[in-house]
Amino acid sequence: MRTATARNPSVLMEPMLAGDLDAVLAIEHKSFSTPWTDTMFRSEMRQGPSSQLLVARLEKRPATIVGYIGYRVVLDEMHVMILAVAPAWRRRGIAQHMLSEAMEQARQADCASATLEVRASNVGAQQLYYRLGFAPVGIRPKYYQSPSEDALILWRDPL
Ligand SMILES: CC(C)(COP(=O)(O)OP(=O)(O)OC[C@H]1O[C@@H](n2cnc3c(N)ncnc32)[C@H](O)[C@@H]1OP(=O)(O)O)[C@@H](O)C(=O)NCCC(=O)NCCS
Repeated sequence: MRTATARNPSVLMEPMLAGDLDAVLAIEHKSFSTPWTDTMFRSEMRQGPSSQLLVARLEKRPATIVGYIGYRVVLDEMHVMILAVAPAWRRRGIAQHMLSEAMEQARQADCASATLEVRASNVGAQQLYYRLGFAPVGIRPKYYQSPSEDALILWRDPL
């Protein structure tokens, strides 16, 4: 899985390995007020094929990890759990590429629809999701902490 355009760096998407966690956690801490811990990532990696964690690496050496995405397959639904891009690499199409690739992977795994939650104030991420065909269908009041905030529930159906 690779892409390259004038604006985009060429990235490869690969399964996340334990050896990737230092780089992933560094991005995670710069991206979220309540970051996932090392234990949470390791536990997710042990879930088997219903849970997919992927990293995006620069194709050119050094093959720096610039982002990652995680989703679960629940029956025929793709549940996107985590998505982040390193601050220095944002607005270059990396998240759009990762999510598009993950959605294609989920289709191959017979997913028929996709869902995720996003902070009500996270307008940038919402723009990304709307661009990829997600639509808001509801709100989970005070779903997030630090700060407390509602989640928008988004679905793409059909996937
Ligand atoms: C949200 C996030 C993953 C986007 O990553 P990214 O690689 O910068 O996104 P892309 O470059 O693929 O953006 C694709 C499109 O999404 C929209 N978009 C992305 N970030 C945006 C922002 N900050 N403001 C407005 N629109 C934005 C734009 O339409 C963009 O296209 P454009 O650059 O041609 O205008 C990144 O900002 C991030 O890691 N944020 C912190 C963690 C987070 O919020 N994750 C999502 C949790 S639900």
